[in-house]
Parts: sequence; structure tokens; C-alpha cells
Amino acid sequence: MPILLHLMARIFSGVQPTAEAPHIGNYIGAFRQWVDLQDRDESFICIVDLHSMTLPWEPAELANRTRMLAATLLACGIDPKKSVLFVQSAVKEHTELTWLLTCVARMGELSRMTQFKEKSRGKESGSVGAGLFMYPVLMAADVLAYKADLVPVGDDQRQHLELMRDLAERFNRLFGDTFPLPDAFISEEGARIKSLDDPTAKMSKSSERPTGNLWMVDPPEVIRDKIKRAVTDSGREIAYGPEKPAISNLLDIYSAVTGKAPKEIAEAYEGKGYADFKTDLAEAIVSFLTPFQERYGELMADVSGVDAALAEGAEKARGVAASTLAEVRERVGLMFSQ
Ligand code: AMP
Ligand code: TRP
Repeated sequence: MPILLHLMARIFSGVQPTAEAPHIGNYIGAFRQWVDLQDRDESFICIVDLHSMTLPWEPAELANRTRMLAATLLACGIDPKKSVLFVQSAVKEHTELTWLLTCVARMGELSRMTQFKEKSRGKESGSVGAGLFMYPVLMAADVLAYKADLVPVGDDQRQHLELMRDLAERFNRLFGDTFPLPDAFISEEGARIKSLDDPTAKMSKSSERPTGNLWMVDPPEVIRDKIKRAVTDSGREIAYGPEKPAISNLLDIYSAVTGKAPKEIAEAYEGKGYADFKTDLAEAIVSFLTPFQERYGELMADVSGVDAALAEGAEKARGVAASTLAEVRERVGLMFSQ
């Protein structure tokens, strides 16, 4: 058993409760990896409610969105017996470690973060939240509090992962070896699902044009309509590659919901047009999402099961994070290590 434990990686990942529900890009880029990895590794899956406060939020909705996201993850196949599923704000060590890492982070490296630049672009510094600037430090604290070594995320998080490694390395250098350097785990296919109405923009919960998103809870007729309207490339051919960004994006989605390779799917449509392809794709998405939506409905009909899973998860997470924090407090020289 001890040998097995050494071979097992510790996974940590997170998702923000920002919209009503996640979109299919979240599932393809992140959740499906989490479901696979929980069978192999020790997994911590965190609903990062504190991160969602880095942009304006609705207090009356936050708790319910957090619960809905937990139900989504459970309905997708996150098994609370295999993964520690919990809410970030339930474990105070995340915020505490954030402060300690803030004192190790540099203004320059935080200013270089693309996400920060994008979300603050065009705004005067007087109106840009300081939380948005600190976002990657909170994210580093999430992972490092568990000494996790693998972080499965979509491609948009790559730069945040690099910063996290830099912070861990600097901390280790200044205060002694404490944190393993976490590696990003980014799948080759589907790590960046694009908007249905603009293949140059990623599908994003905070997008200004939400018609480009396919929500996990969209009813069948909405899915059919969105796929019908999805932009395509010039020409008629169904092919996979950089010269066909819109069709390739649809093929990535098709591949994720059927388990077939994108190229194999494209070949099956040789000589057929976009209309046939889109009709079949919409049906494949509907068949994939229907069982998920049924499970989601059941979980939301009686949320006591969801709440109990989150309470149990927080308890387990707290145990691990508290022991890391005791060590960190001692290393940085605080008088009290508890
Ligand atoms: P967020 O919605 O920002 O909380 O992201 C949750 C997870 O989904 C992260 O691992 C993201 O990298 C991933 N993700 C978000 N948008 C996409 C997308 N369009 N394609 C693939 N993965 C995504
Ligand atoms: N920043 C991530 C995102 O928007 C969410 C996140 C917060 C996260 N903390 C994390 C992901 C820790 C992985 C590990 O997608």
C-alpha cells in the first residue's frame, strides 16, 4: 500500500460558480479529465467561490450558484467517495495562505497575467478591483495548501500555473523546501473550446455574447437551435485543421460527446454538407446531455445530498490544508504555528 500511495499523484482543480451553470467547454476542457483522474489519483475538486468575487457578483445568488455547480459536478460523475469535493470559502486556510504568498509575489509578475490584462483592459485603475489582480495568488494558495502535484485545467489557465510554480519555487528557496512544484495537466484535444458564434474567442461564462455558449443545462430545442446557428467556415467541406477553425471546434465538441476522434468523424461526412453534419451533432449533444440533465434534476430536487457531500468534503480538505498551514507558519517565522 505505501508504494502505491507514492505512485499516486495528488490532483487539485477548481471552477468558479460564476454563471447559472457551466458550459460544454468547462466539461470538455476540465470536468471530464477530473472524472477520469479520480479513479487513478487522489483528487481535490474545489468550487472557488472566492475567485468568483473578483468580478462584480450578486450576493443573493452566490450560495445557490455554488450549490448548483456542486450538483453539476456530481451529475457529471465526480464521486464524493473518490474525490474530495468542497467549497473554497469553507476552508479558511486558502485565504490565509493567500496572504502569506502575497508577501512572496511581485507586482510585476502579477501585472503580466493575460487574464488580468484582458479583464481590466480599457478600465481606469481606479475601477479595477484589487481582487482581480490577486486572483492568481489565491489560485496558487488553493493548490499549494494541498501540496498537489497535478492540476488538470483548460488551456486558458496555463500562465496561472506557471506563476504558481514560480511562487512555490521562490517560497521554497526563501524558507526551505515546502511545496512540490505543481504541473499543469492540459488535454490535447478540447482544451480550448471556442464560442459558437466566433471561433476566434473561447467559450466563456463571462462572455458578452452568451449566445455563443452551450450550457450544460440547455434544453434539447435550444441546443438544436444554437448548433443550427453556429458559424461555419467558407467552403462546404467538413475537415479538421487550422484552416477550418469553426468546423474544427464543432468537431472537438462532437468528439467529446461521442468518444470518436475528430478526424474519423470528419471522414464520415465526406461528400455531405454542413446541414447534415449539424443535425447529427445536435442529436449527439442532446443524447449526451440528457442523462446528465436528469441526474442534475434529481440532485437539485432534494439538495440535502449535495449539501452533505460538500460538508464532508470540506471536513477532509480542512484536515490536509491545516497541516500544510501549520508547517508554513513555522517556516515563515510566525510566533504561533496553529
Ligand atoms: P472557469 O469557468 O473559468 O471556472 O473554468 C473552469 C475550468 O474550465 C478551467 O479548468 C478552465 O480552464 C476550463 N475552461 C473554461 N473555459 C473553457 C473552454 N472554452 N474550453 C476548454 N476549457 C475551458
Ligand atoms: N482560475 C481557474 C479558472 O478560472 C479556477 C481555479 C481557481 C483553479 N483555483 C484553482 C483551477 C486551482 C485549478 C487549480 O478556471
